[in-house]
Amino acid sequence: MSDNIERLREFVATVSRLVTQAGQEGGGEAAVLAQASGALAALVAQDDWLPEEMARPHPVYYQQHLLYGDPLDRFSLVSFVWGPGQQTPVHDHTVWGLIGVLRGAEIDQRYRVDGGRLVADGEEVLLGAGQVAAVSPTLGDVHRVRNAYDDRVSISVHLYGGNIGRIRRHVYDAASGAPKPFVSGYSNALVPNLWAPAAKA
Ligand code: FE2
Repeated sequence: MSDNIERLREFVATVSRLVTQAGQEGGGEAAVLAQASGALAALVAQDDWLPEEMARPHPVYYQQHLLYGDPLDRFSLVSFVWGPGQQTPVHDHTVWGLIGVLRGAEIDQRYRVDGGRLVADGEEVLLGAGQVAAVSPTLGDVHRVRNAYDDRVSISVHLYGGNIGRIRRHVYDAASGAPKPFVSGYSNALVPNLWAPAAKA
């Protein structure tokens, strides 16, 4: 189902208001995260709005489809489509991020660099459909995310406090923890039409 694109449009409007308000009032990351996480939880509570083109897996690579990019680069929204068993490298973001699981489930493992080695920071966290988690340089920014399933697709929706596909950030060597610069880009050539007519009942 992808009939209810207005849910996505409303979410984008809500986040635009939040970041504008935070900018005007000098509100920090914590205020935006608290409010945006509630809005993201509401968005991923219903799986009937993501366009089919943004939900298709690739046989080899996890997909990062830009759903919306703020023209001022204050935030971006991305659908991550995980094929069976697919996972990210260990990476950071350098901006705040919220992860909301729309379909299936994913596993989040945090890391830290300690004494020239990359070590797991806490236990793996299983995020099921409807759940939301946060990352940021202040909360803990280095992690690996993977599909919890080896036999089905999972999809999560990520909101970032910048244009994540264009930000110069890092992947980390699994053994030494040495950071290497990378820019993730986006998988899609076209973005969803947020102004498509509302679905008929
Ligand atoms: Fe991440």
